[in-house]
Amino acid sequence: MSVAFSDSVRRELDRLLTRYPDKEAVILPALYMAQKEFGYVSDEAIEYIAGLLGVSPAQIEGVATFYTMFNRKPVGKYHVQICRNISCSLLGAEHLIEHVSKKLGIQPGETTPDGKFTLSKAECLGSCGTAPVMQVNDDYHENLTEEGIDALLDRLT
Ligand code: FES
Repeated sequence: MSVAFSDSVRRELDRLLTRYPDKEAVILPALYMAQKEFGYVSDEAIEYIAGLLGVSPAQIEGVATFYTMFNRKPVGKYHVQICRNISCSLLGAEHLIEHVSKKLGIQPGETTPDGKFTLSKAECLGSCGTAPVMQVNDDYHENLTEEGIDALLDRLT
């Protein structure tokens, strides 16, 4: 399956390319655009971006796999990412991951059969002061409790 950015995203990318002479500097924003536009960063998207920027697919792939916020596989309508780093972990993140796993009937890395939820373990989400923290798509949910998670997931179901 071939992929292509919409006209408006293509224009934005061209604008960035004129602003940054170093094409490597545009890899990160291009990957964001791909994830937003295509839902995840597929192998085809990597080839496509490499072609647009004139860099090797391996360079794009290296960046896409280094940053954990890029999904290399399709994700559900709601991508539930629970931080498992030290602050969140000390405040019960593993227990909360298990709780969500049981509630949704999937393991971390899996998507519910209806395509609604994907559960992932995340590295530090940068909000350690309000741990434990979970990100659902672009929204942060902090000071998590089982009850709070249940209420949120029930709203999304
Ligand atoms: S350790 Fe969880 S947000 Fe930093």
